[in-house]
Amino acid sequence: MNISFSYNNALTTEALTQYQAAVKAAQNELVQGTGLGNDFLGWLHLPTDIRSQLDDIQACANMLRSKCDIIVCIGIGGSYLGAKAVIEALSSSFAWLEGNKPAIVYAGQNISEDYLYELQSLLRNKKFGIISISKSGTTTEPALAFRLLKTQLEKQCGEAFAKECIICITDAKRGALRTLATQQGYKTFVIEDNIGGRFSVLSPVGLLPIACAGFDIYQLIDGATKMMELCGIDTPFEQNPAALYAATRNKLYADGKKIELLVNYHPKLHFMSEWWKQLYGESEGKENKGIFPASVDFTTDLHSMGQYIQEGERHLMETVISVLEPQYTLHFPHDEQNLDGLNFLAGKRIDHVNKMAELGTMIAHVDGGVPNMKIELPQINEYYLGQLIYFFEIACGISGYMLHVNPFNQPGVEAYKKNMFALLDKPGYEAESAAIKARL
Ligand code: PA5
Repeated sequence: MNISFSYNNALTTEALTQYQAAVKAAQNELVQGTGLGNDFLGWLHLPTDIRSQLDDIQACANMLRSKCDIIVCIGIGGSYLGAKAVIEALSSSFAWLEGNKPAIVYAGQNISEDYLYELQSLLRNKKFGIISISKSGTTTEPALAFRLLKTQLEKQCGEAFAKECIICITDAKRGALRTLATQQGYKTFVIEDNIGGRFSVLSPVGLLPIACAGFDIYQLIDGATKMMELCGIDTPFEQNPAALYAATRNKLYADGKKIELLVNYHPKLHFMSEWWKQLYGESEGKENKGIFPASVDFTTDLHSMGQYIQEGERHLMETVISVLEPQYTLHFPHDEQNLDGLNFLAGKRIDHVNKMAELGTMIAHVDGGVPNMKIELPQINEYYLGQLIYFFEIACGISGYMLHVNPFNQPGVEAYKKNMFALLDKPGYEAESAAIKARL
């Protein structure tokens, strides 16, 4: 079994077939490396290329797991979202309370003083490790968190422990993190030049934290490899899930559906949506173009966003991640008194109720003018998450080329950084400082 994609509740086959040639052209650009940003295509073959590193990554994870109560993953954007998406999807919803060790926590994904204070308090008197991830090695948020936590770790557990339990994942040669790691003798893994942050989850960036959390990175890569085969250039259009997804969302976008909601019915997938939002938002949102990627967790958000989706402005499309089989089985009990009137559900699985909510919502939304795409995920496990990740990545590359943008750069991310540095009086930003302060 593999993950599958269906567009039946979004478009007709005839409408979709019009996009077949555009998809093929985009696929060719991607595979032949002739498109924009073609120096960032290292992720395309990552499922096979990374295999030789898996044992080293696993050994490093085993070492950290044996020595640390808590492992802090420091990174932002593509340097943390993929790992967090997979770890949350595979972990118990109550992992914290169950006291599983090592616990995985995150830093460097914000600059909140309260967050960092509370994290430092949590780490006090604990043996903790740090995985510091930054491709550029110069991003402010993770650099700031790293300095704080490295100082705490050295004081708390000693220099030798810190030296062993700080792992850096960064560029092979460039950046402050590389310089620091070399000087201190930390173990490092490399983010290859041709792999952008948001396409890096199947590299050590995602794999080391995922292995540290105790999940099977070999299965994850097997799943991604399978999806690589299924979405190959020789797969016919109608059998290629990524080609169909790219075609459907582009056709809907051309029809005025400017916002895509990624929908899940299992809250464990919340961060998969966060990762997907970065992947698509940063890849496509440029040159005043691009579908706006948003997400909802159902049925929770049906009680907050449901009204808008059903009857608000008709610029929405939905992509539902439908999980065929949950990990556990739970039946609804019979109650003699039936005061809540729910005996009609007695003996049924909770998942059956969830599935009927999913089906009912899909029909209601399609009736209300929100086209629905569906991705069926047989189960939430490493193998199928590997498939899902690669499916979204390759569809994103195809989709970006169909939109005629460079899906692999992110020039717009620099604007806020420039202003922040100017406002903070960073050396080298004197002119920008004067200019921005004059506007305040
Ligand atoms: O996708 C991207 O390239 C970005 O989101 C980066 O991952 C993010 O900005 C973090 O950059 P870095 O890994 O250089 O610290």
